Amino acid sequence: MSGDRTVEVHPDPDDLVEAAFARFSDVARRSVEARGRFAVALAGGSTPRPLYERLAARPEATPWESTEVFWGDERCVPPDHDDSNVRMAREALLDRVPVPDDRVHPVPTEEPDPEVAAALYERTLRRVLAPPGDAAPRLDLVLLGLGPDGHTASLFPHASTLEIDDRLVAAVRASEPTMRPPVVDRITLTLPALDAARFVVFLVAGAEKAGAVTAVLADDGNDDTWPARRVRPDDGETLWLLDEAAAGEIA
Ligand code: 6PG
Repeated sequence: MSGDRTVEVHPDPDDLVEAAFARFSDVARRSVEARGRFAVALAGGSTPRPLYERLAARPEATPWESTEVFWGDERCVPPDHDDSNVRMAREALLDRVPVPDDRVHPVPTEEPDPEVAAALYERTLRRVLAPPGDAAPRLDLVLLGLGPDGHTASLFPHASTLEIDDRLVAAVRASEPTMRPPVVDRITLTLPALDAARFVVFLVAGAEKAGAVTAVLADDGNDDTWPARRVRPDDGETLWLLDEAAAGEIA
């Protein structure tokens, strides 16, 4: 059964970042109180950068020494490449907070075969989160963005990766017809990994996302045309944090 879904619209971009900061640090503290650890998958793209910078400016708000950092997806480029999600997160956040190096788990993009990189990343996810038996490891928080086409992480419309139910991490090849720029091989968490999360936060801003937000949040719609519709945590909560421009018609 899917958990609750909440939608918050914040008129001012600064309010949106502050709401995301408050939620991120609150989930982090509660996770450490409950389980001694906070496991988070960061989002890529550009939207989360102001949030990461806010988290870096107030490091005391998050128990970084007990935090395990993963990524929801990554582009198969070197870690110093302009398109690298790990580069953005390191510059905006991770190089500025006291998270232990051995608790930061970038996707192994140095592995030339994306299928192998995906399998290695799944092994890391399982090793670090060590779920009981063969259960899916439960991330405490998954931060996601949304593309104008309704993609999230690197789960693109009508892609075969949307049907994967036996793996937590998959490779998405640059030949995927619906991939949006940067068009490169990618590694992504799959829906089973996202749906195992305790808390999913979509952080979406800008008028160019309004159409996708409306389609994804509508009661009825095509889940394969709008992949973010398929993120439904089995036993977790979903929060949509929107600015007014992205909220568009739903505001
Ligand atoms: C990626 C992201 C992707 C992103 C959306 C929104 O690696 O590209 O994970 O899913 O969140 O494309 O990107 P923007 O925040 O840049 O609009």
